[in-house]
Amino acid sequence: MSARIDELVEAMTLDEKIGQITQVDRSAITPEEVAEFGIGSILSGGGGNPDPNTPQTWRAMVDAYVDASRRSRLGVPILYGTDAVHGHSNVVGATVFPHNLALGAAGDPELVSRVARATAIETAATGARWAFAPMVAVPQDPRWGRTFECFGQDTDMVAELGAASVAGLQGTGPGIDVLACAKHFVADGGTTWGTTGGAQWVPWWVRAYGSPGWYLDQGDARIDETTLRAVHLPPYQAAVAEGVGSIMASYSSWNGQKVHAHRWLLTDLLKDELGFQGFVVSDYHAIDQVSPDYHDAVVRCLDAGVDMVMVPFDHARFRGTVRAAVEAGDLAVERLDDAVRRILRVKAAMGLLDGTAQPLPEPGVLGAPEHRALARQAAAAGAVLLTDRSGVLPLPADATVLLAGAGADDVGLACGGWTIEWAGGAGPVTPGSTIADGLAEHLGSRLLATGATAEDRGPLDGVTARIGVVVVHEPPYAEGLGDREHLTLEPEQGELVAAVAARVEQVVVVVLSGRPLALGPVIDLSDALVAAWWPGSEAAGIADVLVGAAPFTGTLPLPWPDGDLVSPSPAPGPAQPPRWLPGHGLVAGRSATG
Ligand code: BGC
Ligand code: BGC
Repeated sequence: MSARIDELVEAMTLDEKIGQITQVDRSAITPEEVAEFGIGSILSGGGGNPDPNTPQTWRAMVDAYVDASRRSRLGVPILYGTDAVHGHSNVVGATVFPHNLALGAAGDPELVSRVARATAIETAATGARWAFAPMVAVPQDPRWGRTFECFGQDTDMVAELGAASVAGLQGTGPGIDVLACAKHFVADGGTTWGTTGGAQWVPWWVRAYGSPGWYLDQGDARIDETTLRAVHLPPYQAAVAEGVGSIMASYSSWNGQKVHAHRWLLTDLLKDELGFQGFVVSDYHAIDQVSPDYHDAVVRCLDAGVDMVMVPFDHARFRGTVRAAVEAGDLAVERLDDAVRRILRVKAAMGLLDGTAQPLPEPGVLGAPEHRALARQAAAAGAVLLTDRSGVLPLPADATVLLAGAGADDVGLACGGWTIEWAGGAGPVTPGSTIADGLAEHLGSRLLATGATAEDRGPLDGVTARIGVVVVHEPPYAEGLGDREHLTLEPEQGELVAAVAARVEQVVVVVLSGRPLALGPVIDLSDALVAAWWPGSEAAGIADVLVGAAPFTGTLPLPWPDGDLVSPSPAPGPAQPPRWLPGHGLVAGRSATG
């Protein structure tokens, strides 16, 4: 294969080399242009979906780009990348697995690897062979809007689960089935509150989402090298040892210097010291942040060790800038060749250069019953029983149950961010089974569902049941949209818990969220408290643990704060001792048989 790569690099014109390192958002390029410029990669960002959004239209969309790349002069196929971060979660009808934080609570590498394998199969079935996963950040401050994407706060655990995810995606054979992408190198989880720019700063391309400002995401990690190596680097060592083919650079900075332009981090540490043989991809529009002068930004990032650039929009400008930089001698052609070789080496390992790539599964496999069963099992495995003061769980076999809360019967609220749309959203966004579905399955006519929100309290009147189950939730978000100064529950959700508690003998509160929330009075109002995280499209798995059909096995993958966090805090982490420490998680008081 290395002869074939030499031959290709030899045959490439300067423009073709530049095309090979260019990754374009599918909204900004046609298949014809991919063929014409020999583009190396296309991506769907969060919500980058065809209309209508189905497995079949996805496959047609991706195939059109892949087929076009095969018609380019040298016929090197593109890599189509997408954020399959909890299943192939942009696609309506895909199995949406729990987010990583729930998998971290489950703490089972074998489960993570099976989830990643199923994700690889569903992703490949739409023609895409590259998942921008796993996220292997080690989050230090739960106010960060990407906490849910991380496995947890223990470096060794993140390293182990991250490697398991790489193995599941890429396969354990000699080649690579679906390319994994460990992200975001490095210390994206170690930034200091307020260093992004706060209310003054929101990336222009996401302003339509109406964010109140970014505070931690894309900020500055003000830590020494010892901390960087001890806390944030090991997951990359583990991913490299597992043969990860791509690594995404982080938007964030390390002590004031953007990682994207950090030669020591990307080249000396990652490639030379860790021996990473794959390629480094830049993040969405990230190189533009390095310098107001685009030429300077492009040169500094490529020179530092970025191999493929997620442009993502104006590819003509990017290609022209690289050409000018090489012609002016600002960028060594050897560096460009090295980037091209790294990308081709991965494509070769995937069998894309000699027609030996794994055959693609059919789109009908998306949402397959065995994948949904696995997602349901994973949702159950990640649930953490925080309190059970009166032994109310598992729900007794003879009790009537009043179910309330907007999250109880809402697939979108159970899936969280990065689901169908970038930020996710409430509603029946994709097929799935909710907590209400699962409870109805187990309890039949003993389940009385009502009272979705505090305003909707009317239906509670006159309803009596022995036990209440209230599902409270944190509204979905992605990235810095979720940076939040106060990790408190919305007041109306606490009011709903109080209203239900007044009508039943015992109340169980289930929390759907992307991170721990300060629950305030809800802790004392509830007899049992369950952290369900964002369990995905098969949230019925949460009902399985509530009734005892599956055991509680989850434990906290990070501390759970007691009250609010002080902000801005010079030191990350809770300002007061946490309510529960990592590792906390009860088993239900009684056995499943009652
Ligand atoms: C995120 C990455 C993601 C990329 C492509 C960026 O904004 O930081 O995690 O893979 O977009 O959607
Ligand atoms: C895109 C995502 C991307 C994000 C960048 C969104 O508009 O859809 O793919 O990750 O912007 O922060």
